[in-house]
Amino acid sequence: MQLLRLTDTLTLVKAPVTGFFNTCHGLLVAGRRPVLIDGNAGRENLERLIRQFGVHEHLATHFHLDHAIQVGFMIERLEGRVRVSAAEHPYFASLDYFIAHTGLGQNGLAKIWTGIAKGAYGWLDSPAAGVFGPGEVLEFDRNRFEVIALPGHSPGHVGFWEPREKILFAVDVGLDRFGPWYGFTHCRLEEYLASIEELRRYPARLLLGSHSDPVTEADIPGAIAGLKDKIEQRHQAILRAVEKLGSRAEDLVNQGLIFPKDYRVPEPWPAVFHFWERTLIERHLEFAELG
Ligand SMILES: [Fe+2]
Repeated sequence: MQLLRLTDTLTLVKAPVTGFFNTCHGLLVAGRRPVLIDGNAGRENLERLIRQFGVHEHLATHFHLDHAIQVGFMIERLEGRVRVSAAEHPYFASLDYFIAHTGLGQNGLAKIWTGIAKGAYGWLDSPAAGVFGPGEVLEFDRNRFEVIALPGHSPGHVGFWEPREKILFAVDVGLDRFGPWYGFTHCRLEEYLASIEELRRYPARLLLGSHSDPVTEADIPGAIAGLKDKIEQRHQAILRAVEKLGSRAEDLVNQGLIFPKDYRVPEPWPAVFHFWERTLIERHLEFAELG
């Protein structure tokens, strides 16, 4: 874990990168009651943040494992002072709901996913979490964050705008190497593209993401445009593949359209990656009205 001081009160918590969706960066907001937004850097690092900075409250932006597996632990550790994106509370509350509403269950992945989440990653169902959501302004001691709806990556995915510091925390919009991710069946490409447009509305001097380094002012327009370009490149490649292979998503998997053809992951991940690739491709087919 690295702590990167952004302003006198805001620190970027850079989580270790593992490649297996169990960590994410976050923001530590100092004040009389310090708040940690996301920042799942693993249990030991979370303990350190709580002890060193007196973290009082924790906020989680969406239900994906890398942003959610610490929630149960933080509820215990912070005596319940945890809030999650309101629209996704049911997913945090129940892994069964998560599995039933993402396509995992319908595609035979319930057992594998439960093994990963509850077994390897220590997921705890968290019905006791409080909620926050878009339109709210979170008033902290010396910072205020407007909560912004950025759906597409997940239905209730949110980001934050800090107008005084001109910091835009775009969370999981895809500023990392993989780019935009929309691999569950409830993801919508149309919403994703609208969320990318939304990011352009903020005159940010610093753009933050959950799995990437901060982007500074001059590079922000290019970084936002890059998100759209990545989706467009995938879209064109998929449309070209459809001409050759037809529009059945299953026939378009393993063609290097989303993941490289030689992509290898250890058990139990191959079945999950296969599902993700097919689901990402389906989102494009749906967008092109071919699905
Ligand atoms: Fe995510």
